[in-house]
Amino acid sequence: MGKDGFNLVVVANRLPVDMSVADDGTVSWQRSPGGLVTALEPVMQSADGAWVGWAGSPGLEADPFDADDMRLVPVTLSAGEVERYYEGFSNDTLWPLYHDVIAPPAFHRQWWDTYRKVNQRFAEAAAEQAADGAMVWVQDYQLQLVPGMLRRLRPDLKIGFFDHIPFPPLEIFQQLPWRRQVVEGLLGADLIGFQRAGDAANFSRAVRRLTDLTTRGQMIQVPADGDLPARAVRAAPFPISIDSKRFDELARTPEVQARAKEIRKDLGDPKIVMLGVDRLDYTKGIRHRIKAYGELLQDGSLDPAECTLVQVASPSRENVGAYQELREHVEVLVGRINGEYGEIGHSAIHYLHHSYPPEEMAALYLAADVMLVTSLRDGMNLVAKEYVAARSDDAGVLVLSEFTGAADELSGAVLVNPHDIDGMKDAILRAATMDPKEQRKRMRRLRRKVLTDDVAKWSSRFLTTLAIPQAGDQTGSDD
Ligand code: G6P
Repeated sequence: MGKDGFNLVVVANRLPVDMSVADDGTVSWQRSPGGLVTALEPVMQSADGAWVGWAGSPGLEADPFDADDMRLVPVTLSAGEVERYYEGFSNDTLWPLYHDVIAPPAFHRQWWDTYRKVNQRFAEAAAEQAADGAMVWVQDYQLQLVPGMLRRLRPDLKIGFFDHIPFPPLEIFQQLPWRRQVVEGLLGADLIGFQRAGDAANFSRAVRRLTDLTTRGQMIQVPADGDLPARAVRAAPFPISIDSKRFDELARTPEVQARAKEIRKDLGDPKIVMLGVDRLDYTKGIRHRIKAYGELLQDGSLDPAECTLVQVASPSRENVGAYQELREHVEVLVGRINGEYGEIGHSAIHYLHHSYPPEEMAALYLAADVMLVTSLRDGMNLVAKEYVAARSDDAGVLVLSEFTGAADELSGAVLVNPHDIDGMKDAILRAATMDPKEQRKRMRRLRRKVLTDDVAKWSSRFLTTLAIPQAGDQTGSDD
């Protein structure tokens, strides 16, 4: 009698593959290297799962297909929708608003209309794939209205939502003209997961202030609404992680180890290699980091002949103005410092505007004495966890911003406030001169945490919590 369909449906802005159309019209796809795929692949395969998402190019229409034992369901976005829903509302309204308004968020009614329309399309696609009583797990800020829309379409489903980015304090969130609709959209879920306890608390406060609902601990009571029965919603922290074992193993392979040595040699065998790895995003504090590093060279605390900074800045959201401006600023700054302190055959900063496969990343992590993660605001920051997972030699120092979700978990890192340039300079120097014994002590502590709390644990904790009836959940007792 049960409706045909999948027992687990993941809904995310992006599919785990990027699809492209050749000149002759043939569609091909490549697996995208994102962390979420590796996290969810095993659960998806054992649970008969489908993944609903955008294939990454405007206008691309494709039928559902199977890849790696998953059903992939492409959602089509027109060029205008990519502009207004993805580049506009998601990445020029919500992204800066949720990251402490580091860049000013733009509020445009047309963008909001398209965001709503596109969220409805994702909800309909998910409703079509889900079996009777299935679990649907909606991901991230691009799709915050999907839980509410989906509940109206399919009240039989268990709906989870995970917010990968920070949830802002009420004083910032309430700038959003559509704040109430967003909160109500999220409340369509049975379980709303956040990176940090502070994010969950910010959300609960927004619920109390922007709706008539009351909250008690992690629970929010939602009264009956027409045909929909009363429900209890849980808002709780579920800090995400990485496939730590895979990274640890990768970094132990002879190929990666040899490549790490080669990288150091190609850099001119400096005494100290520092590393930054980020999407080129204004939330990452790349300018603050480079400024601090430049001042250390200028005041003679670091000798440019003995150290170098490798900055990988992977291209991101290149049609959004704030990202174009950031790129200009970073490149001018790098050029200035290299002009001042570089020598023939030796650059003060190696700036790489590319992204690299995991093997090359693991080699870079192994080659780096100091890893600089200096985000101004960051939901979690998985680069910090990757660095730790790669360091089975127990060497290397992680300099980590207080404003990352990772800082809540990773004791053993040298914590910094990236706005405090002097403080950051002290921390970088301390890291660069830390004795190996202290490095080992800290790295062991970090590795215990990262290797134990991996991404498989994250997804199973979330899905197990979603599967149990919530306290006060009326749907559970009616069965
Ligand atoms: C962050 C977001 C993800 C997003 C990723 C890359 O990690 O939380 O949802 O997919 O950035 O950004 P992009 O806009 O290229 O998908």
